[in-house]
Amino acid sequence: MLKLAAAFSTLAAFAPFVASQSAVWGQCGGIGWSGASTCASGSVCTYSNAYYSRRCTLTVGTGSGGGGTAPSSTVSSPSPTGSGGLPVGTSTSKLNTVAKAAGKTYFGTATDNSELTDAAYTAILDDNTEFGQISPANSWKWDATEPSQGDFTFTQGDAILSLAKGNGQLLRGHNCVWYNQLPSWVNSLSGSALSSAMVNHCTTLLTHYKGDTYSFDIVNEPFNDDGTWRTDVFYNSLGTSYVNTVLTAARTADPSTKLYINEYNLEYPSGKSDSMLSLVQSLQAADVPLDGIGFQGHLIVGQVPTTFQSQMEEFTALGLEVAITELDIRMTLPATAALYEQQKTDYQNVVAACNAIEKCVGITIWDFTDKYSWVPSTFPGSGAALPWDSNLVKKPAFDGIVAGFA
Ligand code: XIL
Repeated sequence: MLKLAAAFSTLAAFAPFVASQSAVWGQCGGIGWSGASTCASGSVCTYSNAYYSRRCTLTVGTGSGGGGTAPSSTVSSPSPTGSGGLPVGTSTSKLNTVAKAAGKTYFGTATDNSELTDAAYTAILDDNTEFGQISPANSWKWDATEPSQGDFTFTQGDAILSLAKGNGQLLRGHNCVWYNQLPSWVNSLSGSALSSAMVNHCTTLLTHYKGDTYSFDIVNEPFNDDGTWRTDVFYNSLGTSYVNTVLTAARTADPSTKLYINEYNLEYPSGKSDSMLSLVQSLQAADVPLDGIGFQGHLIVGQVPTTFQSQMEEFTALGLEVAITELDIRMTLPATAALYEQQKTDYQNVVAACNAIEKCVGITIWDFTDKYSWVPSTFPGSGAALPWDSNLVKKPAFDGIVAGFA
């Protein structure tokens, strides 16, 4: 294990940047990718999926998840076995209760409108001692709220608002500007017409939910893994200043919500995390409002970076808060007892990383049951990423989360 950690830190810290090679964990292919397609020594370009492209994964020290970093601590007690022979979670603690006892603002989950008719599901979702915060998985996105220009519809979004309000749960707004789930009419605009449409969309969205959210993902996924800007319609037409423009508009629309930039793959040092740090510094130098960075946390069992805490601290050192906003830790199916135990360790380590940082305000899992996870359809062959299984039975991962707050 130590050997593996050392191997990773050596690769991560000292691999020289070579333009023709992607760094370990870096992007090396996929839709729209024009960067390097070969990987730094000790890693190999591995298909992830069209959405998350391809990444350079380590070829050394393969563990149960197929290679990666060693966990910084382990959960040793074996879990009892449930039906199907897989171990189950046994903690009777409630996640939001333990998070708040540890000084966090919330422990939360994403949910989606189509799931709210499932009574067994909502019985867990509605318990604000389990979940003190809700994120709308889809119904606040641009395609859902402004499918044609100027034609706003908040019926689905408001159902999530009512649910959270009724349950006494905080809301994280998600999201305002993102290249994905973007209605096609936006892609046909440019210049001032695009800028006005973007400002109008975000202003209308944040005004509609004014005073209702704890925080709001204003910009989602602005960078490629190598740290270059994502070449979406916003960057292509408006350059980097679209971020300044939309953050400023968001502050005016709802001065009470915390403004976030939200990204994946910030959990280890990379071109992407370097670019995010530079962006934060340039926004701060220009007095552009920004309160937090969201670490999405779409992770893989056995490959959770040991650098998660230090990466979050890079941003809190700049005066921002951080949050883990979309946590799930997927495995290659079929699930095994060993993978479940490793996943428990992985959840514990991620939660402990946030717990160790005062300005890591909370953790959101990207839904709580494998029944409704986005993972199997996005990462074919992977799944079982969440702390409740598809029968709404707690997995060892649940106990890992509780242990992470201890
Ligand atoms: C996902 C949803 O969970 C899916 O239902 C949808 O089909 C695609 O988007 N990063 C984000 C989230 O910021 O909005 C994405 O949510 C997951 C990746």
